[in-house]
Amino acid sequence: MPHTKIEQRIYELRRQIQLHNHHYYVLDAPQIPDAEYDKLFRELEQLEVENPHLITADSPTQRVGATPLQEFAEVMHTIPMLSLNNALDSHEMEEFDRRVRERLALDTIEYVAEPKMDGLAVSLRYEDGVLMKAATRGDGTTGEDVTHNIRTIKTIPLRLLNNPPQLLEVRGEVFMTKDSFTKINQQHAETGERIFANPRNAAAGSLRQLDAKVTATRPLSFVCYGVGVIEPRFEYETYYSILQQLKQYGLPISQYLQTVVGIEECEDYQRRMSEQRDRLPFEIDGVVYKINSLAYQNQLGFVSRAPRWAIAYKLPPQEVLTQVVAIDIQVGRTGALTPVARLEPVAVGGVTVTNATLHNIDEIHRKDVRVGDTVIVRRAGDVIPEVVRVLVERRNGDTPQFEMPSECPICGSAVAREDGESVARCTGGLFCSAQQKQAVAHFVSRKAMNIDGLGDKLIEQAIDSGLVKTLADIYSVTREQWASLPRMGEKSADNLLRALDKSKATTLDKFLYALGIREVGETTARILATHFGQLEKLQNATVEELQEVQDVGIVVANNIYTFFRQLHNLEVIAQLQQSGLQWQEVEITATKTAESAPFAGQTFVITGTLHNMTREDAKVKLLALGAKVSDSVSKKTSYLIAGEKAGSKLDKAQALGVKILSEEEFLQLLIV
Ligand code: IVH
Repeated sequence: MPHTKIEQRIYELRRQIQLHNHHYYVLDAPQIPDAEYDKLFRELEQLEVENPHLITADSPTQRVGATPLQEFAEVMHTIPMLSLNNALDSHEMEEFDRRVRERLALDTIEYVAEPKMDGLAVSLRYEDGVLMKAATRGDGTTGEDVTHNIRTIKTIPLRLLNNPPQLLEVRGEVFMTKDSFTKINQQHAETGERIFANPRNAAAGSLRQLDAKVTATRPLSFVCYGVGVIEPRFEYETYYSILQQLKQYGLPISQYLQTVVGIEECEDYQRRMSEQRDRLPFEIDGVVYKINSLAYQNQLGFVSRAPRWAIAYKLPPQEVLTQVVAIDIQVGRTGALTPVARLEPVAVGGVTVTNATLHNIDEIHRKDVRVGDTVIVRRAGDVIPEVVRVLVERRNGDTPQFEMPSECPICGSAVAREDGESVARCTGGLFCSAQQKQAVAHFVSRKAMNIDGLGDKLIEQAIDSGLVKTLADIYSVTREQWASLPRMGEKSADNLLRALDKSKATTLDKFLYALGIREVGETTARILATHFGQLEKLQNATVEELQEVQDVGIVVANNIYTFFRQLHNLEVIAQLQQSGLQWQEVEITATKTAESAPFAGQTFVITGTLHNMTREDAKVKLLALGAKVSDSVSKKTSYLIAGEKAGSKLDKAQALGVKILSEEEFLQLLIV
C-alpha cells in the first residue's frame, strides 16, 4: 500500500472502531459481532506496528500507557470545580425551592434531577475533539493530572464525535459499579491484596494509580454532569440541552436524568430513586436538582464554593456507627474458619444489622477490629454487611488484638493455614461436629441424595446427641432413635425412614457430589462419573489420570486424590454401600483430550428450556466433547443453544452475532 493509502486506512479503522466503542460502551447496543470488531482492532494494531510514526494518542490502541508515572502533576482548573450544598430532609429541600423562587420571582421552577453518584469528580479537557488532559477535582482550584488513568476507562471517548467545539471541558463522576466492586474485592481477598471499603474508595484508589496498567484492570465508569471552559461558547438555553449535546459528542450521561417541575415532582423523583436504590447498578448518596434554565443559573450565581442554583438531597447513609459485641468464628463445610463480628443491633438502610463479615484474619488485622470497638458498618443492597473502619480514638482500655484461635472452637483440632492462603482451616475434617453437620446437610440436599425431612435442626440434634457421627450413620439410626429426638414423633420418623430408603437408589454422579469433595460441584461430579464409569476406577485414579478429565485442573485433581486416600472416607463409603446405596453402571463417554475432542476450543452457552434433556445434561455432554460451557454470552461465545422461552441471553447473542442453535440443531450436532 502506498503511504497515503495506509494512512487513510488507519484513519478509517480508527473512525469505525471509535463508533463501535461508542455503541458498545456508551449506548450499550453493539452494532457488529465482537469477532468483527476484533478483526478491525487487530488490523489497526498491525498497521500501527508496521508504521509506528502514524500512532497518535487518540488511537483506540493507545488506552494503556507503557511507563508508570513517578508522581502526579498538578492541574489548575480555569473554572473552579464547585461542590454542592446539601438538603438533609424535605424541609430543607422546600426551603431551597422557596429561596430560589423568591430570588427569581417565579411560582414554580423547572429542575433537572439526576442521581448523586458516589464516586469522584473529574474534569476532562478535549482539544479539537481529542482527549488531552484529565484531572481530579482536588481542592476545586487545583487537581491532579490523571490523564493516563482516565484513558483506560472505556466509556470515556478518546476522540469526540459529531463536530465538537475547539475546546471543551467536561465534568463528571468516575465511579465503580456494585458488581465490579464485589468482584474486585473477591479477587483481592483471594490474593491477599487490599479490600476496598466501598465502591467510592475502590474508584478513587484505582484512579490514583501511578501505573495505568493497574487502573486498566479495574472496571471504572463515568457520567457527565457539567461543563467547564468551552470555545467557542455554547448557545444553549438549558442545562438539559447541554447534556444532550454532550451525548451527541459520544459522552455518557446519566440514564436516570429527568426534568421535574416544582417541589412535588422533585419529591416524586426522590421517592422513586430511594425505592430503586438497592437495585441500581451503582451507588448513590443522594439526588441532585439543578435549575434547568442557564439564564436563571447565571442570575443566581454562587455562594463561596457552591452554586445557588443546585442542591444535593442526601439519602439516608448506608454506613452507620455501632459496637462490636463479640468476634465469633464460624466453621464451614470444608473447615474454613470465618470470623464474624457480632454487633450491637443497628438500622442501616431500612434493615437491622446484627452481624458483619470480617473475611479473614489478615483483614481483621488490617482494620485492627477488636471486641468493644466502635466501628463504621456499611450495608448496600444485597451485599453482606461489612465493618468498614474502627474509630480507634473511641477505644477505651486495652483490649487485646484479635487472634485466630490455634484450636478449632468447635472440635478442638489444630487450626492450620496453608502457605499463601489467607484462610485458616480446622484440621479435624469430618471429626469436627461443625463440619459433620454441614457435610450431612450437603449430603442430604436436593441435588445430592435428595433426602426429604432431614433439615438443619434435626441434623444438629442427631449430631449433638451422638447418634450421627459420619455420613453413613444416617442410614443406621433406628426408628426409635429418630423418634426420641426433640420434636420428632413416630410419624415423622417413619416418613424420614421412607425418604432415606428411597434415596438409596441413586446415581454415581449424585453420590460423588454428595460426598462433598472440595471443589467437586455438580458438573464436575457428572463429568467424573461419565469419564470413569465406576467408583473404583475413580478411587484408584492417579493425579495425572484425574487431570486428563475435561475441566479438572491440578487443584481439583489433588483434592479428589487426597480424599480417596483418607482411610476414614473409604470406611464411610464402604458403610454407605453396605447400607444398600447403589447406582447403575454408567455409560462411559470418556472425555477426550483437549486437542482431539470434536468441540475443542468452542464455547457454548445454554439458555431457555430444553425438552429432550436438562440444561445440566446438555452441559455435561458438551464438556465431554471438549467444549467449554459458560453462563454468559460474550464475544467469545461460539454458539448459543436456545431452548424455549429464551430471554435476554438470546437477545444478546443476536446483537453480538453469535451463532444460535435450536434444541433440534444442537441434537443434530451431537450425533455428528
Ligand atoms: S454537580 C456545580 N452533579 O458531588 C456543581 N455533582 O457535592 C458541581 N456528584 O464534587 C457538581 N453526582 O463529585 C454534580 N449529578 C451530579 C453529581 C455530583 C455526584 C459529586 C461530585 C461533586 C460533589 C459535590
